[in-house]
Amino acid sequence: MNTPPSKPLVPPRAVIFDLDGVITDTAQYHFHAWQRLAISLGLPFDEAFNESLKGIDRMGSLDRILARGGKVYSPQQKLALARQKNEHYIELISTMDSAQLLPGALQALCAVRAAGLRIGLASASRNAALVLTRLGITRCFDHVVEVAEIERPKPDPEIFLTAAQRLGVRPVQCIGVEDAAAGVAAIKGAGMWAVGIGDAEVLSHADEVISGLDQFDIQHYL
Ligand code: BG6
Ligand code: MG
Repeated sequence: MNTPPSKPLVPPRAVIFDLDGVITDTAQYHFHAWQRLAISLGLPFDEAFNESLKGIDRMGSLDRILARGGKVYSPQQKLALARQKNEHYIELISTMDSAQLLPGALQALCAVRAAGLRIGLASASRNAALVLTRLGITRCFDHVVEVAEIERPKPDPEIFLTAAQRLGVRPVQCIGVEDAAAGVAAIKGAGMWAVGIGDAEVLSHADEVISGLDQFDIQHYL
């Protein structure tokens, strides 16, 4: 059996990051906002189930929560519920600041920039720009993909392919960094090198898994 390569075969020219769970830990805020909505609807919701929503877009998450509770709502009602959850979420993230950057995140962004690579953001969150502002790192990115432009959510590769295209880099020259299985699938579907953040069992399709960006060394890939 051949040993899998420990780095991309082509030298990378860009790194495309996910946001939630990679650069900052917003999972707790999504959890509290969904939990508040679930309680108001009398639906079950816990942290273990919240784990399965990582990387899943807002409406996709709502669909899973409603299906688990055996509830059916009209499309208009679902839009109103999703809006309600987002209001809770925005309230929670309004107090965020750079202290909420995960260990090594800022250093990784600066090191990638210093090495002359391009930097993209491929987050499923419609609040990504707001979170970047709160964290004070908007200027670290050459391109932030607008979710509204994306037709197919992760695990479809569209968001990563769009980021690569906007950065003017071929997918094979990109490293994607993700904490969710759906995100790793999107990176691999795009033909990129996938760095998983978190649990190697959950992220078994990643090319490598590290515990956080404090373990990410761009020099290793050059
Ligand atoms: C992802 C999160 O980054 O964004 C999900 O992992 C979240 O939990 C999704 O549902 C969509 O976020 P938003 O801010 O558009 O509701
Ligand atoms: Mg994530």
